[in-house]
Amino acid sequence: MDLSAFRPGFTWGAATSAYQIEGAVTEDGRGPSIWDTFSRVPGAVDNGDTGDVACDHYHRWPEDIALMRDLGLGAYRFSIAWPRVLPQGDGTINHAGLAFYDRLVDALLEAGLTPHATIYHWDLPQALQDRGGWPARETAMHFADYAAVVAETLGDRVKHWATLNEPLCSAWIGHLEGKMAPGATDLTAAVRASHHLLLAHGLGVGALRAAVPDARVGITNILTSCEPATERDEDVAAARRDDGHNNRWWLDPVHGLGYPEDMIRVYGTEPPVEPGDLETIGAPLDWLGVNYYRRSVTVNDPDGPAPYARPITPAGTPRTGMDWEVHPDRLERVLVRVNEDYAPRSVMVTENGSAYPDLVTADGHVHDGERTAYLRSHLAACARAARRGVPMDGYFAWSLLDNFEWAYGYDKRFGLVHVDFETQARTVKDSGHRYAEIIRAHRHATASGAPAADRHATAPAPTGAVPTPE
Ligand code: FCB
Repeated sequence: MDLSAFRPGFTWGAATSAYQIEGAVTEDGRGPSIWDTFSRVPGAVDNGDTGDVACDHYHRWPEDIALMRDLGLGAYRFSIAWPRVLPQGDGTINHAGLAFYDRLVDALLEAGLTPHATIYHWDLPQALQDRGGWPARETAMHFADYAAVVAETLGDRVKHWATLNEPLCSAWIGHLEGKMAPGATDLTAAVRASHHLLLAHGLGVGALRAAVPDARVGITNILTSCEPATERDEDVAAARRDDGHNNRWWLDPVHGLGYPEDMIRVYGTEPPVEPGDLETIGAPLDWLGVNYYRRSVTVNDPDGPAPYARPITPAGTPRTGMDWEVHPDRLERVLVRVNEDYAPRSVMVTENGSAYPDLVTADGHVHDGERTAYLRSHLAACARAARRGVPMDGYFAWSLLDNFEWAYGYDKRFGLVHVDFETQARTVKDSGHRYAEIIRAHRHATASGAPAADRHATAPAPTGAVPTPE
């Protein structure tokens, strides 16, 4: 694996999100979120699992930070729980909740880890849902106030900020497909939600820059390669709609291009744009986050839900425990496409990983060779993208820990570290050890190389292949 295209100082990290790991959902004044509510709806989550305890990270964070330090991670991407900070979504700040992130950030820095904070990873305060949720414009305004509170508190130490994680999931899966909180199935509400999420992002960028002048601000989107199942015209058109739905709807406005006209026609409803909104949403960013798991292959489906493209899973490709195809070359394709179409200043893969049914064996290890192979092949894809000119600046494995995988509950394990949910015992999986070796080798190979100078300038890229353990 040749990772020499990653510059010295490349960010090596792992990611989590608040509701998926913290637990302690009623502690220190935290209010309920839409996921507390949704996970209690019968049938919404496999096995009736909830995030009530999750990885108990709210209490075990010192141990988890020690694990990250031992793995040699340079950075940790986590999210802040809005209902811990503002239990009602707006109004009175819950200082006890905010203090958790204060402690976490101090301890990360002490352990030599750079904090990368995501302000919103899907856990809207239930109180705001009760007042209309994301389909209501005021929610975006409340988000901006919330972003200002966390930025003012943590911004002296946290410089890397993402406004939202995958607004697509909040809007489309939460309001159209009904498979995530709040569980609605209403296209008009979903399109309204999508606009208010993007507006929240834009307002959040402003709030962050005002509070933290040297902040590096971005957004994290889940992106995919949309491909027709056949060469039939109607399937090719369906794949184009699928691309609009998954990729362009979320990338175009953020890059100042407004909403894709073809998709407004597909949805048959206009996003509720008010004067100035598109300028707010299109505020320039310091970096773009790409979450990638799999490609999307679809057939035309005029009777299905928008975008009238039904996903199929072609036979013959290896799959993960999610039944998701393994296609690292599509990650390269997505990264190159994003660079060509949108020219972001900097790109980080903010999530990438795989679920497998891991077991701790009698020798006390987790031999997850498939996850290691997934990790290596996708890192190689990132390096190829970097060689093709994509300004790759970081990679965050999803996830540090096995955790609450939303509607799939605890059965789908994505961690580099295994969690026994009965005992909360953590066991670094083989993939975690391999990841640590890859990071070490890259650091070692680039340590004596050219300084992490401006990669966009004319200096030649480092050449020699970076040896990494096989
Ligand atoms: C992403 C989510 C993350 C996790 C992974 C598997 O879409 O951002 O929380 O669930 O998928």
